Amino acid sequence: MSEATWDVQDGAIVEQPREIRRHPLLARIYRHHDALISENLSGRTLEIAFGQHMHPAADVGLEGWPSNAQCVSNPAVAGDARSLPFEDAAFGTVVGRRFLHHVPPEDRPRILSEAARVLEPGGRIVLLEGTPGLYRRLTKGVAFRLGLLEEDTDIYGHLSEADVYELVAREFDVVAKRTLGSPLMVASIAESDLSKHLHEAYRRTQFVKWWTFVVGEKPA
Ligand SMILES: C[S@@+](CC[C@H](N)C(=O)[O-])C[C@H]1O[C@@H](n2cnc3c(N)ncnc32)[C@H](O)[C@@H]1O
Repeated sequence: MSEATWDVQDGAIVEQPREIRRHPLLARIYRHHDALISENLSGRTLEIAFGQHMHPAADVGLEGWPSNAQCVSNPAVAGDARSLPFEDAAFGTVVGRRFLHHVPPEDRPRILSEAARVLEPGGRIVLLEGTPGLYRRLTKGVAFRLGLLEEDTDIYGHLSEADVYELVAREFDVVAKRTLGSPLMVASIAESDLSKHLHEAYRRTQFVKWWTFVVGEKPA
């Protein structure tokens, strides 16, 4: 019997996500996102819910699926983003990617208030979340039909751009927001080494919404 790769803990879907290294285009997209995030890093950095990839500059990561720590070389702790095991004002930046949709909607404000608590005044939260939309529905539908995607654990659905901004704005001043995406996202699950050559084309075709990128600053 194959080992479980996901579970529900206090309503949150914790999992061992897709192994990014097996998908050359996806790995390049993650590096592109790391570069965008780097423009917003300052001080000690925490990445919450890092999955199989943590920003190379993160000082520590926190994950709900403890064995994900083995996939990264940065220091990592097991825990819940709704109750962070860190002191107040311990960080200059908190990063979180593609995970708010794994937490029940009513618990999401707690994640933002915990991030605000562990950030020093002027510290930043950097979030990247999947954006629901026709293109995502179509490509995922096709991928499931073709058997290219396994079981879908996204039971709570993705947050709209407005949902993400609104959540961040509860605790932070929103200092940057943009959407990222490309019609070539569908190639990102390919395992062929050739797919990495699509990265430049991916970068030049950022007109299909796939992710929402938001940066908030904790008021001084
Ligand atoms: C879709 S994966 C994204 C992983 C990674 N951030 C990325 O972008 O590839 C969602 C991750 O959130 C983690 N997660 C979900 N709820 C969590 C919680 N309450 N606290 C900590 N981690 C959580 C899961 O274990 C999983 O690794």
